[in-house]
Amino acid sequence: MTHGQTALERDARRRSSDGQREFERQKVAAHYEHNADIFSLVLDSHLTYSTGIFRSTADDLETAQKRKFEHVRKLLRIRPGEEVFDAGCGWGSILLDLAEHTEGRFYGVTLSGKQREVALQRARQRGLDHRVRVDVAHVAEVNLEPSSMDVIIFSGSIVHIHDREAIHRWVARCLRPGGRLLISDCYFPVQQRGSRNTRATEYILGHTLGYCRLLTLSEELELIEKNGLDINLVEDLTSSYVHTVRHWIDNIRRHRTRLEELAPGFAHILQCYMTIGRLSFRRRSALEYMILATKGRIDHDLDDYSIRGMST
Ligand SMILES: C[S@@+](CC[C@H](N)C(=O)[O-])C[C@H]1O[C@@H](n2cnc3c(N)ncnc32)[C@H](O)[C@@H]1O
Repeated sequence: MTHGQTALERDARRRSSDGQREFERQKVAAHYEHNADIFSLVLDSHLTYSTGIFRSTADDLETAQKRKFEHVRKLLRIRPGEEVFDAGCGWGSILLDLAEHTEGRFYGVTLSGKQREVALQRARQRGLDHRVRVDVAHVAEVNLEPSSMDVIIFSGSIVHIHDREAIHRWVARCLRPGGRLLISDCYFPVQQRGSRNTRATEYILGHTLGYCRLLTLSEELELIEKNGLDINLVEDLTSSYVHTVRHWIDNIRRHRTRLEELAPGFAHILQCYMTIGRLSFRRRSALEYMILATKGRIDHDLDDYSIRGMST
């Protein structure tokens, strides 16, 4: 790995792999264990805690998140009975949308018991609970049978995992031939645009979000390819993330009084980290990408994702 390491990464390297997993389990979970009522005042109605897809600055957050759901559905083309694993499913945003619009079977994990409760409650409300399972687990410890999954999704979650080499080996082992991997997350540009060891970086990646390790896009793609998958599509969603975060910050401002009542001081932390994050994405010192990769032959009539992407 060639890009400048953060102090967080250096500390992670000094821990054993069990120690680092335990560290992630505790530190990362703490952020997501906050009351879901807080996030429902900040995020869209499906509690999507990752970028939407904006086509225009006039789009609202609901429209952008709905467009992302539709896009993910189109890319993944889940067929009846297919097994889908959402690694870091949050409050169920993408998992439940896919369950509602396809006839697959769904298994999500999160580090937060509170998120699990909300995701399962939402599944029951939508009559999806017979096809949706959610556990509290660190993804690296989920014991899936080899070649048992058709789809594995990481949306806003892979960044929380230090040992990316191990996680990509795990993905390649768990996917069936023809299986798809979808990642939507943050990356550092190869060209270092400012220091990565600032208090601002530490505040966002450590203090607020527990633990984050941003690779460069090329590092993540290399790990995917090294494990035998083919890259089908890479999309730059950095501008969309700038707009997504703008809406989240506006919502914090709008609901500041209520947020203070729910968790004194937390709105300030959210607004600070999102404001710094938004500036980084605007300056492109942090980038947001969606990646689609497949294991082996794609059993589709037309397997050129970029051409299909152009029509959406
Ligand atoms: C930013 S949220 C994204 C939630 C959801 N995927 C979405 O797009 O709305 C990150 C999620 O990943 C989960 N997560 C982070 N690290 C994880 C790990 N090692 N194992 C399982 N879940 C993890 C968190 O608990 C949280 O639910």
